[in-house]
Amino acid sequence: MSKWVDVGAAKELSETEPLAVFVEGFAIALVRCGEQVYGVQDLCTHDGETLGNAQVEDCQIVCPRHGAHFCLKTGQALTPPAYEPLQTFAARVDNGRVLVEIPA
Ligand code: FES
Repeated sequence: MSKWVDVGAAKELSETEPLAVFVEGFAIALVRCGEQVYGVQDLCTHDGETLGNAQVEDCQIVCPRHGAHFCLKTGQALTPPAYEPLQTFAARVDNGRVLVEIPA
């Protein structure tokens, strides 16, 4: 089971800077890419850097410490020094609010 949780206003979303939220024990970085919203764990799989301060380029989130790129859609690590994927979270906008699907 899972549940959708309201984590804030859609106007807070950006295509260039993640929106970091902490909900139900999960730290999540949310990014808008075109019409879609993507959520990934707010913790780099290389060495644990927060991705809340990351840059976003072409639907990729770039770790601010060593520069690993991750695909926002799949969480896949695209460049070293990260090799393990980020956990992803389904997200969407509904009535101007951002909803994230949290595993139960
Ligand atoms: S901590 Fe993210 S690339 Fe090293």
